[in-house]
Amino acid sequence: MCGIVGYVGGQNAAPLLVEALGRLEHRGYDSAGVAVVGSQLKVTKRAGRVRDLAEVLPKRTSGRVGIGHTRWATHGPATDVNAHPHTDASGTVAVVHNGIIDNAAALRARLTDQGVELVSDTDTEVFAHLVALSGADTLEGKVVDALDAVEGTYGLAVVHAGFPDRVVVARNGSPLLVGVGEKEMFIASDLAALVRHTTTVAHLADGELATVTAAGFTTFRRDLTRTQTTAREVDVDPSAYEHGQIDGRPRMYTEMLEQPASVERALRGRLDERFATAHLGGLEMDARELRAVRRVKILGCGSAYYVGQMGASLVEELARVPADAEAASEFRYRDPVIEPDTLYVAVSQSGETIDTLLAVEEIKRKGGRVIGLVNVVGSAIARACDGGIYLHAGPEIAVASTKALTTMYVGFALLALQLGRVRDLSVADGRRLVAGLQALPAQIEQVLDGEERIAEAAKSLAAAESLFFVGRVRGYPVAREGAQKFKEISYRHAEAYQMSELKHGPLALISPDVPTVAIVPDDELTDRNVAALHEIAARGGPLVVVTHPGVDLGELRAERIEVPRNERELDPLLLTVPLQLLAYHAALSLGHDVDKPRNLAKSVTVE
Ligand code: AGP
Repeated sequence: MCGIVGYVGGQNAAPLLVEALGRLEHRGYDSAGVAVVGSQLKVTKRAGRVRDLAEVLPKRTSGRVGIGHTRWATHGPATDVNAHPHTDASGTVAVVHNGIIDNAAALRARLTDQGVELVSDTDTEVFAHLVALSGADTLEGKVVDALDAVEGTYGLAVVHAGFPDRVVVARNGSPLLVGVGEKEMFIASDLAALVRHTTTVAHLADGELATVTAAGFTTFRRDLTRTQTTAREVDVDPSAYEHGQIDGRPRMYTEMLEQPASVERALRGRLDERFATAHLGGLEMDARELRAVRRVKILGCGSAYYVGQMGASLVEELARVPADAEAASEFRYRDPVIEPDTLYVAVSQSGETIDTLLAVEEIKRKGGRVIGLVNVVGSAIARACDGGIYLHAGPEIAVASTKALTTMYVGFALLALQLGRVRDLSVADGRRLVAGLQALPAQIEQVLDGEERIAEAAKSLAAAESLFFVGRVRGYPVAREGAQKFKEISYRHAEAYQMSELKHGPLALISPDVPTVAIVPDDELTDRNVAALHEIAARGGPLVVVTHPGVDLGELRAERIEVPRNERELDPLLLTVPLQLLAYHAALSLGHDVDKPRNLAKSVTVE
């Protein structure tokens, strides 16, 4: 969603800002803009893509201090006027803002009463006027005065023509990073916009502000007392953040292909063959504390929630601890009961999803213990948790999550194994699962090798306006994730259903025009699943069956996609991979931009 960039240094700011905004494009946005402080403050903004902004940016825009923004419309449509930066009436102050000002309506009314003319529909514009109206004699003081009036979440950056050497930034709930260069400083809401210039980075904490000049940065609180936030070297490979296609292929494709390597990374150093267990040092929990866990509650959004359901099954099967997953976006609104002996697990690729972050904060406020399964190191959710497991998937650029998702699954498997082995899981079962996990990278490779056949099946599915994805028990969250991926990028209506529930209603929809993708692993439920497939076939419903070698489908006419066998408990991971390829090839055959699906953002940072 919205992205912030900033620059203070010796170079002309405008081209640097535009380039940095381009590196945030994958997050999803509908307009973009920059404000540059030179001999005066100049703002250029435009609805549309960053390249549209670049086209209208006057060639003579010069100045060594500036801020930029990609906007995802919340208050008001995507128009030039609603794009950020927003300014006060005199054009002295410019502001870019991520998040939502909750009391914007009241502030707009107050400003209007004071004779201020508001030109946009946005919540952010009020902030520019509040800064301009402040009587403080420093930019820091003006920003603090404005912040005292607003309620809500924000990452924001402010420039002022009267203070041309600096950018003042503030954070409350939306990430803000300061990157340290050689006599120049960078600001961004996402590491992706910084890494080309620097990997020495400071993460602002909630409630913190910073003054950024070419010489460095200082951090402080709203009462203007100094804080000690420092910059650290982040261990990332800048080339992994490059955007655009690789070898002419969409990023979703290269990210799917990377899964054997990313799963390998997620496992590295965490398996203990001798004691047939996993070691997750980041949990910050010893064996006694792990044994005291009476329940596991997993929270995430979208695909992270579905993989959380797979994780809950793993925890119940391996550790025999009751576990369930819930959409963080629901959990946080229902005044949840927080139990002291429940282990809460927040799962997120970006570490920024606002609903998941607020769920974590709700748990902590009520005294619960929460660990994170997070990909982005140092992200808001990772920092808010008591401990956790980094996924090591590497940067995920495509909106449709693939490699992060499979590393989430591995994270849950490791957690379940460690929890199981401090309880009743036998050494023999532990060994079986360690070996199963070790086999996964090569087996994912095998599934990916079957791409051609999957692509054929995808083309026939893409022709249908509506389809079902069905599975039972372990297979149901796999079906949910498969349907999610399919609808996200193909824009077809794809509905996930429990195989067992079909005859309680949805069977009425089955017809030759409504295909079903069925998840049928070789397990204790195969016979029941095959019986349900016969019911679908009897009503003329076309079938694509994702299954294991040797599963007997009898006389069924079905397109068959096979994945290798592993341990039954670990089946969901390998069953998920062909569904990614199905969605990908369906979307490609329909001519869609798979990396930037319509209406979707990579990180959902607004409620
Ligand atoms: C995945 O394909 C989706 N784009 C989406 O559901 C995503 O998983 C969800 O928004 C959660 O994101 P997170 O993992 O960054 O928290």
